[in-house]
Amino acid sequence: MKGLLLAGGHGTRLRPLTYTGNKHMLPIANKPMLMYGFDQMRASGIREIGVILGPLQEGIVEALEDGSKFGVKVTYIAQPEPKGIAHAVLISKEFVGDSPFIVHLGDNLLKDNIPEFAREFLRSEADASVILTRVNDPERFGVVLLEEGRIIKLIEKPKQYISDLALAGVYFLRPTIFPIIEKLRPSRRNELEITDAIQKLLDLGGKITYHEVSGWWKDTGRPEDILEANQLVLKDLKTSIGGMIEHGVTVSGEVEVGEGTIVHSGATLRGPIVIGDHSEIGDGASVGPNTSLGSHVRILGATIENSIVLDGTVVDCRERIVDSIIGKNSRIISSLTSPSGGRRFVVGESTFVSL
Ligand code: TTP
Repeated sequence: MKGLLLAGGHGTRLRPLTYTGNKHMLPIANKPMLMYGFDQMRASGIREIGVILGPLQEGIVEALEDGSKFGVKVTYIAQPEPKGIAHAVLISKEFVGDSPFIVHLGDNLLKDNIPEFAREFLRSEADASVILTRVNDPERFGVVLLEEGRIIKLIEKPKQYISDLALAGVYFLRPTIFPIIEKLRPSRRNELEITDAIQKLLDLGGKITYHEVSGWWKDTGRPEDILEANQLVLKDLKTSIGGMIEHGVTVSGEVEVGEGTIVHSGATLRGPIVIGDHSEIGDGASVGPNTSLGSHVRILGATIENSIVLDGTVVDCRERIVDSIIGKNSRIISSLTSPSGGRRFVVGESTFVSL
């Protein structure tokens, strides 16, 4: 079995973070988003993984290289324009060859038994298998209609309610899907939709099986989804202290502290929290719960909750910061010492600030 990890697309909803980096490299609990799908495929015994790259590729090739350090072979497949998930599958035809394969969206996180589903698919005669999950906003997803336990219809982003069972972004397919995609027309949003391809497969008498998610699933297209995914992953965190927590720090819950990180006396850590390497939490600062701090991050005096702070950022003020994603090498400092006394910003395009 082979794997396709989709890391193309524009990531418009995550601007400005995606102006300077690929969204799939944004960290969730300090692990790049796309590594969750990558690791699921490895755990399923897959040793050949095709990675779809869009125009903004920063960091992906550097992180995965040729795959050998992860015990797999990585093949990069260029998709200069995001013409749809089915398009990404189609351009991978040569890579896939005659093998069954898993397609995993690089911005989807799924807590479930993918290796077991993969084994079952290989043993089965199914032409495709999908993973379903109930959602409150089915109009945002591909959804399926079931009748007597069988999939009878699939629709991408239905305008009118047909069902609340959405397709999670992991698909098990066989090369029989290629001739179908070749004949597919682009949708209203000008994409080749995988939902349409699987519907066609069904129309042609194909057998499609499914599983409902028993753990959780998160599509991390929007900032609030990233924070929620961070929270979900941190639920399983176990305490591990690589750095130094001084005497006089108040610690509760599960806390992971990286090498060379120092938490000074008088700070508070409320788990679950993950802190990378060579970071610093100052006296009076409070971190957590549900917070991930990268490496070389300094939190001095501030309280930070339910947030993600990327590498190299300094927060030095007596503010309470909540529900935030703060990009690399940023500085958030107190305006009390500034001569004008007002708030000062150097913020990029499409930035969100709530004062
Ligand atoms: P989307 O979330 O549909 O698109 P996007 O990532 O470009 O985000 P936005 O809507 O904010 O602009 O994509 C789902 C996943 O599939 C994501 O991991 C990117 C990937 N993808 C491709 O690799 N190629 C494509 O042509 C498309 C549409 C998506």
